[in-house]
Amino acid sequence: MRIDGCSALVTGAASGLGLATARSLAAAGAAVVLLDLPGSPGEEAAAALGGRARFVAGDVTRAEDVQAAVDAATALGPLRIVVNCAGIAPGQRTVGRDGPLPLEDFDRVIRINLAGTFNVIRLAAAAIQATDPVGAAGTGADAGAGSGSSAAESSVSNPGGPDGIPAPSAPAGIPERGVIINTASVAAFDGQIGQAAYAASKGGVAAMTLPLAREFAPSLIRVVAIAPGIFDTPLLQGLPESVRESLAASVPHPARLGDPADFAALVRHIVENPMLNGDTIRLDGAIRMPPR
Ligand SMILES: NC(=O)c1ccc[n+]([C@@H]2O[C@H](COP(=O)([O-])OP(=O)(O)OC[C@H]3O[C@@H](n4cnc5c(N)ncnc54)[C@H](O)[C@@H]3O)[C@@H](O)[C@H]2O)c1
Repeated sequence: MRIDGCSALVTGAASGLGLATARSLAAAGAAVVLLDLPGSPGEEAAAALGGRARFVAGDVTRAEDVQAAVDAATALGPLRIVVNCAGIAPGQRTVGRDGPLPLEDFDRVIRINLAGTFNVIRLAAAAIQATDPVGAAGTGADAGAGSGSSAAESSVSNPGGPDGIPAPSAPAGIPERGVIINTASVAAFDGQIGQAAYAASKGGVAAMTLPLAREFAPSLIRVVAIAPGIFDTPLLQGLPESVRESLAASVPHPARLGDPADFAALVRHIVENPMLNGDTIRLDGAIRMPPR
């Protein structure tokens, strides 16, 4: 699906992976709504992206806040791209020095990372379902729009490059309504000591990807999750340089921390590649996290 001409909603967009994603989608021609907590630097971030970006202050766990962001995105154009980046990553042992982890602490991580992501998906998917499909005529973001387009009606030749292979960004007659991209974590698969709640929340994000993709397939909406390894975001920027260096060296190749731009590049590819659906993609330089 083409990015230009779409409206996009990015959560957690005032910082880190969400901010890089909002920048990248705006540069590719999308109107972008940045949803982040009140008090976050979201207003400045949106202003830096120019006239087709808007900040909506809100909490992903609150239905009315998310609906306001969905409405703001819909007002800017047909909402087709949703990227869930809002999240928290506290390290908390299940039984620590002060005894068992309070259940409220576990609940909070699940509530923001998993239920918050689902809250955005359910409200945004309803808005995406109300749009006309695109890509049927193979030109422009809204070309060929109109309910009732079918793959058969819309088949179009895509000459592609000199090797005859169509570029994934060139619609090859596949009608689509939108793409929902969620942020899991490698902790979903190799969670460390102290990450029981975080790993459970990200495991939930990974696990709901397929049932959501299956449910939304008839609506021509794809759902994909990204499981980042260790990325250089404000989440890590507070750590001492020596710790950052040792984390970077633990990545097999490339032996560096992930750059938020690497994440944003994958988001763009997922939007543009119509065959990516229903799975969680690790973006981690081959790292497998040790127990601690
Ligand atoms: N940085 C990494 O190494 C890494 C690795 C794996 C997964 N992740 C995941 O990527 C996502 C983004 O992380 P990041 O590194 O960019 O962190 P970050 O702290 O830089 O950004 C997260 C943003 O989410 C916002 N946020 C938090 N709770 C929210 C809520 N309830 N409602 C709305 N916004 C809220 C924060 O204000 C912040 O701007 C998170 O889900 C995180 O778990 C990060």
